[in-house]
Amino acid sequence: MTKEAQIGVIGSGAMGSGIAQVAAMAGHNVVLYDNNVSAIEKAKTGLSATFQKLQEKGKITSAADLLNRFTFADTTQSFAGCSLIIEAIVEKLEVKKSVFGEVEQVVSSDCILASNTSSLSITSIAAACTKPERVMGLHFFNPAPLMALVEIIPAIQTTPGLITIARDLMQQWGKLPVIAKDTPGFIVNRIARPFYGEAIRIYEEGIAGIGTIDKVITETGGFRMGPFALMDYIGHDVNYVVTETVFQAFFYDPRYKPSFSQKRLLEAGWLGRKTGKGFYNYAQSAADTDYTTDINTGRGIMDRILAMLINEAVDALYLGVATVADIETAMTKGVNYPKGLLQWCDEWGAANCLAVLDGLYEEYHEDRYRASPLLRKHAAGNKKFV
Ligand code: NAI
Repeated sequence: MTKEAQIGVIGSGAMGSGIAQVAAMAGHNVVLYDNNVSAIEKAKTGLSATFQKLQEKGKITSAADLLNRFTFADTTQSFAGCSLIIEAIVEKLEVKKSVFGEVEQVVSSDCILASNTSSLSITSIAAACTKPERVMGLHFFNPAPLMALVEIIPAIQTTPGLITIARDLMQQWGKLPVIAKDTPGFIVNRIARPFYGEAIRIYEEGIAGIGTIDKVITETGGFRMGPFALMDYIGHDVNYVVTETVFQAFFYDPRYKPSFSQKRLLEAGWLGRKTGKGFYNYAQSAADTDYTTDINTGRGIMDRILAMLINEAVDALYLGVATVADIETAMTKGVNYPKGLLQWCDEWGAANCLAVLDGLYEEYHEDRYRASPLLRKHAAGNKKFV
């Protein structure tokens, strides 16, 4: 696809306006549509301010020229000349299906239709279309202009040739594309679940407080943010809902079980930073948060969360969700992990990681702690992943 191709974006919220910005900065004319007129106005003002700032910093030559590449639309009719449409509307399957059906009436027969969904099945969205073979997932990360990773997700109906077209286009846009099987949470939102879930479990069991867990993960693990600070930052309305959706989509596999602690925060409206309160109270200073520095507690927390994360990465590889290289890229570029989890496993030793998981399995007798058969094989054969 060349720069002359017109790109359509459905939904002008946080993700849609970010994706539209990326496409315009890559040289395309962009049609940005929303069914809410005030959302379009907000996107126009936001993009204009962003381009102005970029011009002041010398990163672009003309904010006005960039803004001129946009058509702000309140009807899907404006998509008629587009070669690719990326949908970023509310995360509801029935709404997405109906919008895809409507857009398909307007666009040309070879226009590619993509969804930015975080957790819905691409195959089920494609099934709502008369030409399901042109539908795929293009999953950007927030904020889209700054995060390099894009997960490309073919539905089971997608024409294989479209994957290459999408990959080339994302590279032209300066992105790092990876390819994921259409399974719940794709790569990042599947593998990252224990970062939150296991941390909450350690806290609920009274092993350590949130301050201790966050400190161990950042100081020992080298992660930029601890799990509780990160959940508060993402917002429990988003993070809890992804966890619950992934849990249901995996037929209630206990590995992905949501927690009552986080559900209660959501019910209370304590959504995290944006409401001033979540796991942390942002009215207090960080110094008010308890933490212990007991070295054995620290090592136990780190080993437990890391073993669960590595097990997810290994199991995703085992089940063909993505390649070794794409799993490593996804976790280092999509959620900024300090190291790829498969490389981390190699350095730690598959046998050491397995020993932690088997120890947890022994202690709890829960399927949640079952090790991936591939991890067991690598441990037995002393093999490396990377
Ligand atoms: P948002 O709430 O900021 O924006 C959604 C926009 O879609 C709103 O402007 C709304 O008016 C519009 N909209 C809703 N129904 C519509 C319809 N029927 N037709 C046209 N426009 C409609 O949501 P956000 O955060 O941008 O998320 C959009 C999608 O991107 C969701 O599928 C979400 O799961 C996914 N996503 C979100 C990420 C995030 O961190 N926020 C990250 C990656 C994916």
